[in-house]
Amino acid sequence: MARSNKVAVITGGGRGIGKGIARIFTQNGIDVVIAGRNFEKLEKTAAELKSPKAEILCVQTDVSVQTQVERLFDKTMEKFGKVDILVNNAGIAEPMAPITDIDMKLVDDIVGINFKGVYYCARRAVKEMLARKSGNIINIGSVEGLISLPGIAYGPMKAAVHRFTKLLASELAAIPIRVNCICPGLVLTEMMEELSDRDVEVFLVHIPMHKALVPDDVGKLAYFLTSDDARYITGSIIAADSGITAATTGFNTSLQDVEKWMKAAVS
Ligand SMILES: NC(=O)c1ccc[n+]([C@@H]2O[C@H](COP(=O)([O-])OP(=O)(O)OC[C@H]3O[C@@H](n4cnc5c(N)ncnc54)[C@H](OP(=O)(O)O)[C@@H]3O)[C@@H](O)[C@H]2O)c1
Repeated sequence: MARSNKVAVITGGGRGIGKGIARIFTQNGIDVVIAGRNFEKLEKTAAELKSPKAEILCVQTDVSVQTQVERLFDKTMEKFGKVDILVNNAGIAEPMAPITDIDMKLVDDIVGINFKGVYYCARRAVKEMLARKSGNIINIGSVEGLISLPGIAYGPMKAAVHRFTKLLASELAAIPIRVNCICPGLVLTEMMEELSDRDVEVFLVHIPMHKALVPDDVGKLAYFLTSDDARYITGSIIAADSGITAATTGFNTSLQDVEKWMKAAVS
């Protein structure tokens, strides 16, 4: 695959799903800018993904701080002169807890990173994309924004990202700048490290296809969505979830249900 002459900004590109997306993009000749708070991690990933087909720029960024997001895009423009693709992937999770136990600082962080970060990045990327009258934005949502799973701040913020995707897609469709959202199911990244092997086993029993995704699966879908083959797809919320949201009853509906399964699984 030759160089595509496209430039993608991937937030949270240093590990997990973001790294999978960066890998697939660079393999397909797309230059990438990977952003995250841990610069060392970004550099390590860049060294690992190094390829003659694509350039990789690392920019230390906290997406919840607007000035840092502006700096991310300034650096991207300085190096590449354009932004063709934005992948809003950076995010944090929350431990399962009833609302009465939830740490309000964590709620603020989830709002700041998982929603405001998406907004800041999209706002600046759109400015650059409008100048060239084309662009692609992929937001990473979640099944937790589609159905009720424990995560009293995380799920609602992902649902906000889904709604934001649709509004932005309709605002920008005529340019055309396409905006889509991928909702992964279970992907065994650092985000899922709090789950024990036993927890994972129990989840897999309840997931209709009994399979977790790997980060590259999300990367391949993101690549397709940014390609010309997807030129009429915009405003779509696409679940890549091993059937979690296909199950009519959902995956589970309450924290109590999850606790019940866990107890049943170990008994
Ligand atoms: N794993 C799953 O099962 C799953 C399922 C559905 C949706 N998702 C979503 O997929 C996305 C990626 O998740 P993952 O599983 O790959 O998680 P992960 O392995 O924990 O990676 C999260 C990434 O986000 C970055 N990040 C976190 N806070 C940031 C901030 N303030 N500014 C910039 N970057 C920040 C992290 O880098 P630094 O720590 O260096 O900043 C890291 O690169 C998230 O939006 C998540 O909600 C994951």
